[in-house]
Amino acid sequence: MNVETYISQLTLEEKAALLQGWTTWTTREVKRLGIPAIFLSDGPHGLRKQAGAGDHLGLNASVPATCFPTAATMANSWDVELGKELGRALGAEAAANDVHVVLGPGLNIKRSPLCGRNFEYFSEDPYLAGKMAAAYIQGIQENGVAACPKHFAVNSQELRRMAMDSVLDERTLREIYLTGFEIAVKEGKPKTIMSSYNMVNGTYANENPHLLTEILRKEWGFDGFVVTDWGADNDHIEGVKAGSNLVMPAPGADEAVRLVQAVKDGSIGEEVLDARLRELLEVVFSVSEAVADTPKAFGANQHHDIARKCAEGSIVLLDNDGILPLNKDVKVALIGDFADVPRYQGAGSSMVNPTMLTSLKACAHSAGMKITGYAKGFSRIDPKPDQHLIDEAVAIAKTAEAVLLCVGLDEIAESEGMDRLSMDLSDGQNALIHAVCAANTNVVLVLSGGAPFVMPKRNCYRAAIHGYLGGQAGAAAMVDALMGKINPSGKLNESWPDKLEDNPSYPYFPSKERTAEYREGLYVGYRYYDTADKPVRYPFGYGLSYTTFSYSGLSATKDGVTFTVTNTGDMDGAEIAQIYVACKDGKLFRPGKELKGFAKVFLKAGESKTVTVPLDDKAFRYFNAATNRWEIETADYLLCVASNVENVHLEETIHVEGSYAPNPYNQLPSYESGNIKDVSDEEFEKLLGHPIPDGHWSGELTHNDAICQLYYAKSGLARLVYKILTSLKNKAEAKGKPDLNILFIYNMPFRAIEKMAGPWVSDQMVEDIVFMVNGHFWRGFGRLIGDFFRNQKDNKAFVNKLDNTK
Ligand code: BGC
Repeated sequence: MNVETYISQLTLEEKAALLQGWTTWTTREVKRLGIPAIFLSDGPHGLRKQAGAGDHLGLNASVPATCFPTAATMANSWDVELGKELGRALGAEAAANDVHVVLGPGLNIKRSPLCGRNFEYFSEDPYLAGKMAAAYIQGIQENGVAACPKHFAVNSQELRRMAMDSVLDERTLREIYLTGFEIAVKEGKPKTIMSSYNMVNGTYANENPHLLTEILRKEWGFDGFVVTDWGADNDHIEGVKAGSNLVMPAPGADEAVRLVQAVKDGSIGEEVLDARLRELLEVVFSVSEAVADTPKAFGANQHHDIARKCAEGSIVLLDNDGILPLNKDVKVALIGDFADVPRYQGAGSSMVNPTMLTSLKACAHSAGMKITGYAKGFSRIDPKPDQHLIDEAVAIAKTAEAVLLCVGLDEIAESEGMDRLSMDLSDGQNALIHAVCAANTNVVLVLSGGAPFVMPKRNCYRAAIHGYLGGQAGAAAMVDALMGKINPSGKLNESWPDKLEDNPSYPYFPSKERTAEYREGLYVGYRYYDTADKPVRYPFGYGLSYTTFSYSGLSATKDGVTFTVTNTGDMDGAEIAQIYVACKDGKLFRPGKELKGFAKVFLKAGESKTVTVPLDDKAFRYFNAATNRWEIETADYLLCVASNVENVHLEETIHVEGSYAPNPYNQLPSYESGNIKDVSDEEFEKLLGHPIPDGHWSGELTHNDAICQLYYAKSGLARLVYKILTSLKNKAEAKGKPDLNILFIYNMPFRAIEKMAGPWVSDQMVEDIVFMVNGHFWRGFGRLIGDFFRNQKDNKAFVNKLDNTK
């Protein structure tokens, strides 16, 4: 039977029911027709399939799965083949566990180093993010299961993520926040995609026809299904109209009842539901057949080895005066809690229950390192300096020939549902670094964490090597890198500013109340530092090696660049060559240079290879807000071959004949200079092309305000709820472990109560709750009780109708 035949046999109620989740993780089945349910599961760097009842927030443990390095780590490898290999293994584990859709990869742009989810996103650069995401998707889908890139789109802030409106101009939207998704969709061909929680320019991403229909489906040719983020649905009818197919997790029948009603009263055509069902069911049938045919086991050891290979390829050597690789006879003190209890993944929906886990301490011992002692050095729970732990560390540092000092971001710093407040390491870690460096002059910093932090002064240590969040085998890979068994070859997927204030989004991030204004425009990360000529600690694309490389013999055309890379040192290694394009004499403002290609080249000591990096349709284009399409400016362009954005080795100018479209801008001095830290309202309005929406919270709370805004509530009881939640949140943070449940509730808008509470809460009941919160407690309560029973009755009636067609 083809999908059309199924659709023609479905009742209107069944159609509506199929467009929403059945349980937290599954879609609905229609037994009488043989339409199967499919299972969706996180996540981006390993499977998180709950063993018992699904609860979204991870109360029930998930089945053991390989914990691969997170996306931020893998992006440092700049190795798309490795990304594909990871994806392949992830997809195999999904299929073996009867999971049909893997909810990942995540590829939101790292606008600020503070975003709590940066560890599970690839880069500040859309080209690198898109290429890595496409590779993951291809790998995952080789198994017949579906990948689900997320969160589409402009979801670069965790604070009040479900209630936030991202305000940005169309060019920035297209060039920065959508290009990664475009590459992922066009090259990876995902069967599904997840819409994000937030609004984009005033309309929820999940009901945004511009995003979901005009761009995703029409321009990019996406033909799979769009699923909401969990609890992201706002107005289901608008969502279906805009091109969204599946509401997750499992709202009650309330949503379906309204959709049926909307068809009956003509506010949505039944053919629109049919179109959404066609897109959904094509994928449902394809993934369920594939999973049914897959063996139900995977090689845990073999996948552990893949995780290790991924970690090895992603390690970044930040500084080294020659102390690394360590001589195997050197007597080493191991200091820092992360050496014993690894920091290897982030918190939230991506958290994996690993099949095995290695620690630096254990791996260093078994690799034969001469460890003279271990000291914890700091508490990852209490950020304050602990003099006792510091003294212990100093004592062993004094007797050793060198120190491996394991520091970085701890669990509380990086989690879904919250953003960091500062870029600093904890005071406890800073005090430890200071004391240990004073006690021993041969300190090697071994770093962990999924986002940039303020580095100690360069003159207090001899080397710094960063494993980011290396997954379950990260420590083994790190020991090999420290001892020179492998040559670190990763390069940073993001710029590392000296301090938070240097970051271009600093004045604008995070948004305060209802809107997040993306005033820095195109100037995200290196696009700002490089254009405005601001120094950083480590530039985008930066990373050292135990060997050295030289570049020669460039020839360039608009279709690609060819050059030779030579390993001029005496150790085998890999170089990541990066191609940046700079427009030399254009009229339009744009970043100084932008990444448009890269190649990871593996070279034996002394070996040379000639490499060609193709340039595609994205190399010279820009989005013209006046013509409303991609254009190419007729101009001279500099093609740069670089080892990082600041270090260009070869360059050649070519002329490109473009489209002569009019320059849509007039007098935008900040954007012309790249100095975008103080963009006036007037200039931002000019860039937007319309008035800046008022982002201030005012008046009464509405169903789209976040629970944490109960702070403003008129009802004393509601303010008490706010206080209790805040105190629970603070308590969890003080324990060093963010509580995802509390964070989720804290940032979720009232409307999400309905989306997350299944059949128990209806849309109308949410309005009643908001009414109560706004100071009409008893009247609201009365309405709530009445609407509760009405909802139960309607739910029952709807379910009965479905049962009759079972
Ligand atoms: C996260 C998604 C995740 C989903 C299901 C949401 O809170 O934003 O990334 O896939 O939960 O766990």
